[in-house]
Amino acid sequence: MATRPFPSLLRLRSSLLPSTPLLALLSLSSLSCRTTKRRLASLHFVPSPPRTVRSLATVTAPPVVVAEDDKYGRKQVISVTPQLYDYILSNVREPPILRELREETATMPGSQMQVSPDQAQLLAMLVQILGAQRCIEVGIYTGYSSLAIALVLPESGRLVACERDVKCLEIAKKYYERAGVSHKVDIKHGLAVESLRSLIQNGESCSFDFAFVDAEKRMYSEYFELLLQLVRIGGLIVIDNVLWHGKVADPQVNDSKTISLRNFNRKILEDKRISTSMVPIGDGMTICQKRADI
Ligand SMILES: C[S@@+](CC[C@H](N)C(=O)[O-])C[C@H]1O[C@@H](n2cnc3c(N)ncnc32)[C@H](O)[C@@H]1O
Ligand SMILES: *[C@@H]1O[C@H](CO)[C@@H](O)[C@H](O)[C@H]1NC(C)=O
Repeated sequence: MATRPFPSLLRLRSSLLPSTPLLALLSLSSLSCRTTKRRLASLHFVPSPPRTVRSLATVTAPPVVVAEDDKYGRKQVISVTPQLYDYILSNVREPPILRELREETATMPGSQMQVSPDQAQLLAMLVQILGAQRCIEVGIYTGYSSLAIALVLPESGRLVACERDVKCLEIAKKYYERAGVSHKVDIKHGLAVESLRSLIQNGESCSFDFAFVDAEKRMYSEYFELLLQLVRIGGLIVIDNVLWHGKVADPQVNDSKTISLRNFNRKILEDKRISTSMVPIGDGMTICQKRADI
């Protein structure tokens, strides 16, 4: 529903609708051929055994969503069932160090906050497509997404990673060490808005290639404005949880986080300074690219 060229409302049998301009966005980005043997070696993976994903739904939903509006040609799009999500996960190349971190974090409070393996793989791929050298992450938790990014950065690359909670940083640091990427990660402990403001005050505007936002949902608009200053033209800002467990599309839900995310999604849709694509992966991830003509 947030796909730009189709402003009319679309009636669907379910609320899930993947947007399609992702491939167009990717094809606009420059390709890098600087992958070294060492970087490839750090990414060797072993397939995980099949897992069972528990469904929160009581009724088995059909695996597709059909656009009922004739103007969309009764287009069928996939709706991810637990069985299908198991299959998607079994097709993810998850480096062993990430799997260990995920399994250690699985027993901790807040483990549902970490990005899914398929999301982490997409983040890493975007970083590689961009040939990114300088990245920012807002919201580290125990480090799953930041480690996925750091693993694919070149030796000269840097990830500035912001987190306020010192306890989860201990786990993140342990895994950066074990993966041999500590020298690529610059941890900013404290409130993320303060860390981003100090980067700007430090003259680092327009110097970052890639940013990933996954912290306080009511602060998304503030993070976005600061990151839009910090990212270069052509750089990406990726934002997690934009579908917020489906609550953004449910008129029965009006809590403050849901309203913040709805307002944020609307703002992004109308923002001419960026190209954008809302992708239904994980809890929904929007990919924005800073345009030249702003
Ligand atoms: C959803 S989790 C991040 C998950 C992480 N990206 C991963 O894949 O494991 C959000 C994190 O943001 C942190 N956070 C929330 N508000 C923050 C703020 N204002 N400043 C810095 N960190 C914040 C929380 O402590 C939490 O660890
Ligand atoms: C939520 O807010 C919208 C817009 O203000 C309103 O139309 C809707 O009735 C509200 N829903 C509930 C359940 O309060």
